[in-house]
Amino acid sequence: MAKPLLAGNWKMHGTVESVRLLAGSLSAGFGSLVSAPEILLFPSLVHIPVVLEQLQGKSGISVGAQNCSQHLQGAFTGEVSAQMLVDIGCSHVLVGHSERRRLYAETNKQVAQKFATAQGAGLIPILCVGETLTERQKGQTVDVVRQQIAAVAEVVGIENTCLAVIAYEPVWAIGTGETATPQQAQEVHADIRAQLGHQGISTPLLYGGSVNANNANALFAQPDIDGGLVGGASLEAQQFLDIAQQLTEQK
Ligand code: PGA
Repeated sequence: MAKPLLAGNWKMHGTVESVRLLAGSLSAGFGSLVSAPEILLFPSLVHIPVVLEQLQGKSGISVGAQNCSQHLQGAFTGEVSAQMLVDIGCSHVLVGHSERRRLYAETNKQVAQKFATAQGAGLIPILCVGETLTERQKGQTVDVVRQQIAAVAEVVGIENTCLAVIAYEPVWAIGTGETATPQQAQEVHADIRAQLGHQGISTPLLYGGSVNANNANALFAQPDIDGGLVGGASLEAQQFLDIAQQLTEQK
């Protein structure tokens, strides 16, 4: 069984002060829970040191970046390498988030290269996959997700693909207030689990896309949903703690 995991993607939000407060509230909140899932926080790059300082090595809460370069180092103005992330204390990195695929034209191949570079540097990648609304309407959901995962497996092999976290995030459900129904999400998660095979039994599979304190319970009740990747609702400490509590109750 994969262990329960809850990730917060803070995207391009916050100030030094607001992020300090949020990390402080989460640190205190999780400290007072009897049992909590493993927590991953993804602040904006410049806020990572602030969050790490606020958490002061608190166990059970890790910090990662929302993106990294596929290159090791060199003349790539504006980019950040996986090694630099390790150097400042990150343990995880998101790769292939749909906003990166859609707004910055990241291809399956580039995402696979980022995944490989991240793993090579010692980071745990959170591979984000998911279909657009048009693809779902055309009945292509499972094929699209399979291709996104296969592209990574082609570069690093299926064994290394399994040594990561996979987040199923239907593009039409991200930041829209629309969520996949628990059945729709479970169907895709079960297919991902099948694609990973026996090596993927303990690979955490997260659902993402408008997860909040009202819909989390029903999603986490699904057998192949091991946790969540939460955007908007992770910016409110109390709501994120509520979602974590629901995950603990379900798993
Ligand atoms: P959302 O974002 O929860 O705001 O829909 C999820 C994500 O983009 O990871």
